[in-house]
Amino acid sequence: MPAAYKIHEHKFDMLVVGAGGAGLRATFGLAQKGLKTACITKVFPTRSHTVAAQGGVAAALGNMGEDDWRYHFYDTIKGSDWLGDQDAIEYMCREAIPAIIELEHQGVPFSRTEDGRIYQRPFGGMTTRYGEGPAAQRTCAAADRTGHAILHTLYQQSLAHDAQFFIEYFALDLIMGADGSCQGVLAMDLAEGTLHLFRAQGTVLATGGYGRAYFSATSAHTCTGDGGGMALRAGIGMQDMEFVQFHPTGIYGAGCLITEGVRGEGGILRNADGERFMERYAPSAKDLASRDVVSRAMTMEIREGRGVGEHKDHMLLDLTHLGPEVIHEKLPGIAESARIFANVDVEKQPIPVIPTVHYNMGGIPTNYHGEVVTLRDGDPDAVVPGLYAIGEAACVSVHGANRLGSNSLLDLVVFGRAVANRCAETITPSSSLPDLPGDACDAALARLDSLRNANGGTPTAVIRDKMQRAMQADAAVFRTQETLEAGVAKIREIHASFADVKVSDRSLVWNSDLVETFELKNLLDQALATIVCAENRKESRGAHARDDYPDRDDANWHKHSLVWVDDSGNTRIDYRPVHMYTLSKDVDVVPPKKRVY
Ligand code: FUM
Repeated sequence: MPAAYKIHEHKFDMLVVGAGGAGLRATFGLAQKGLKTACITKVFPTRSHTVAAQGGVAAALGNMGEDDWRYHFYDTIKGSDWLGDQDAIEYMCREAIPAIIELEHQGVPFSRTEDGRIYQRPFGGMTTRYGEGPAAQRTCAAADRTGHAILHTLYQQSLAHDAQFFIEYFALDLIMGADGSCQGVLAMDLAEGTLHLFRAQGTVLATGGYGRAYFSATSAHTCTGDGGGMALRAGIGMQDMEFVQFHPTGIYGAGCLITEGVRGEGGILRNADGERFMERYAPSAKDLASRDVVSRAMTMEIREGRGVGEHKDHMLLDLTHLGPEVIHEKLPGIAESARIFANVDVEKQPIPVIPTVHYNMGGIPTNYHGEVVTLRDGDPDAVVPGLYAIGEAACVSVHGANRLGSNSLLDLVVFGRAVANRCAETITPSSSLPDLPGDACDAALARLDSLRNANGGTPTAVIRDKMQRAMQADAAVFRTQETLEAGVAKIREIHASFADVKVSDRSLVWNSDLVETFELKNLLDQALATIVCAENRKESRGAHARDDYPDRDDANWHKHSLVWVDDSGNTRIDYRPVHMYTLSKDVDVVPPKKRVY
């Protein structure tokens, strides 16, 4: 046992780690079901990264034209390049409709149609009649600040339902029982430097993605995959980590998101010749093809010398033809971002854009109830008792190899709600919790103590910078065996250099140096997981595009990757089958076919 650390113990029925859209939807849903629920979060809830989501949330409401949740189901499977689990996709697309109506009733200030219904815009890859009909208007929007609107409403609902918040608490490690069940979390109160053991019957990881493993990302600096890091340390394999989404329109240089909603409202991507190049790559969907397709097309244009600017290294997003009315009413947020971060008046000039890391399709594997699953004794769907994961931290898998825009806010809401519904059925309020052995927190405390006193020669920021640059260069939009092998070697070396990390501040009170070091370890483990899985997968599918294996190879690779990373950086890969079955007879399984837009 390291130097004596006093631990404050708290007991709840349910614990949620993270207060973004998924975490808050779960928190208030659990509290609403009568379960005593705590939410611990490292940032104030309304500063969680969901607040930055712009374009909207998908649901086949059909407010602005023909639509059907079965079309949404088909589009999501096709968008996933057939790696998504079809039972989970059926669940998400069907439940989208009641979940969004609930949000409306809870107070989300959606934009409105003339007749007062929720406004919906087109988004990439969203079609009608199983891809044969016109583009669907399926993405429910609150101007271009939909995440902001949803997050604030969910926080209000959480407070109304009496959930207890522990704000600016950083989750250090899961506390696992000898039987492999999750017993809770050890966390640190950042302001006071005190340690807290949160015990609960169920722990929900809603900690978001790990976009900050890359140098240029639309994600907030807080997106450091803390849940994934904790899961890996608890011996849980992560799923489909090689699939990292590049959003086509990050602002060149700054990386901030310019919503796909711009193209949904009629914005056009142009190359240095002023050409609408997407017409050549996706003749039917054009600028509204799926994100992986558009990001690849932009990268090809740049490679072939048609990039814009001094370095010919970016593209232009033109919305000058939309007119001030559309921009003021539907896209006020991006007009402001473009002015601040690109010095562009969008009514008069195009925005310089470049594909930018945006989303992790991979994460902690779960079923559609949000229960964490693992490969155990040959069972690929074995549930880890007491542990749940939702949102970007999880891999349900509804997004497979590529997520469709506006299916992320949907995933947060639907699976935050699903976990609450599941726990209402399976958890008895106020049940007693098993006693933990006296040394239950020792490993977590030893880790804390050693990092707090880390006295190596390399500052945290230096290791982080190397990791981010290596990931940006070698786990990029296009990948080859050569770049991936170089990337694996670099990331292994950078991962090993963590043994030499230097933390300068030894205190526990608001020690941002120490917190960034915890975050860095979480990022490093997931960066390594990403690049080894990318090197391992010898095909192109969704966001994983290999020059040397340009085709999808269903015979050998129609399966989920699972990867384990230990503390020393040893990795092990295994697989889970893709769920090629549905939950009901309302939809048929969609067999793999060529994916064209
Ligand atoms: O472009 C956007 O507004 C992003 C949406 C999403 O990632 O779902």
